[in-house]
Amino acid sequence: MPATSSGAIPVIIDTDTAQDDCVTILAGILDPAADVRAITMVAGNVGFDRQFVNAQLTLNAVGALGQVPVYLGSRRPMVRQWVSAEDVHGDGTGGLAMDVTGLDPEREHAVDALIRLTAEAPGEISIVCIGPLTNIAMAVVKDPRFVANVKALYIMGGSNNGRGNITPSAEFNFYVDPHAAQVVLDAGFENIVIVPWAPVTIEQALFSRERFDEISALGTTLAAFYHRICLATLEFDEAAGIPGSTHPDSLTLSVLLHPELIISQAPYRVDVETSSALTLGFSAMAWGRYGLPPNATVVERIDSEAFFQLIRGYMAIETTPSRPFQNL
Ligand code: RIB
Ligand code: CA
Repeated sequence: MPATSSGAIPVIIDTDTAQDDCVTILAGILDPAADVRAITMVAGNVGFDRQFVNAQLTLNAVGALGQVPVYLGSRRPMVRQWVSAEDVHGDGTGGLAMDVTGLDPEREHAVDALIRLTAEAPGEISIVCIGPLTNIAMAVVKDPRFVANVKALYIMGGSNNGRGNITPSAEFNFYVDPHAAQVVLDAGFENIVIVPWAPVTIEQALFSRERFDEISALGTTLAAFYHRICLATLEFDEAAGIPGSTHPDSLTLSVLLHPELIISQAPYRVDVETSSALTLGFSAMAWGRYGLPPNATVVERIDSEAFFQLIRGYMAIETTPSRPFQNL
């Protein structure tokens, strides 16, 4: 498929669909700057089959059921066993339900779809990677031409010399599949942009309880959906000492669509710990002075107010669900 004449940015969203992953899908559908070519599913936050339902619930909320192909990908990491974040996110969409009859994933595996879609539009499609990097690494291993065909990877992962979340040293996406993360970082992608958990997400993309309530009170279907899918994670975060609703995934798409949100970024050499039991998944991010050849651009500071207003703006849009929710 050629780039859209509208100038919209062709993207594939590779996701472990729960909470803010769902906000990211909403943003991709609603923002005219995005041309979402596909959603590819990867094992991460919650049960794999529930993640597929979560993607359908999200497309339904914005009236886009059936409009974006959803491909099922890797159901476990490359080497490790799957690690869940259900303690953080619950089922990922606050127990929402709807009739999912007839809503089936594409037959093609997500790894094959990633390879094919980028080969059909070489150098045009950016992949927003907001779950463990298993699908991306598997595509690299299966077809080395994939690397050259991808325009850019926008990756939510790691921390920039900061705290982890699932362990003191590791962020969840890199922790679940550290081997995949290192394969991707070593593969030679021309353009990798990383949005790290710390300090960016937990300091600059955190919506206070008051701002969370401000979005929830907008009176639209999307505002009610946002509240429902993000509340469990907010309550977990507050109990864990993070005073707000975290939005690392939607920020990752947002900086692709709206690069003016980025206040500072820099080239880094990024590597991931794949063997130490103590620091598995830790992201070593070396900035310029260490003289290591950079393999990624790491976002360091973003415009927090503009990001909040962007997400708030999406949730204020009136939409008609494709099918009725059973309990929203
Ligand atoms: O560490 C945060 C990341 O892990 C986010 O992508 C969240 O959805 C989980 O996948
Ligand atoms: Ca995610």
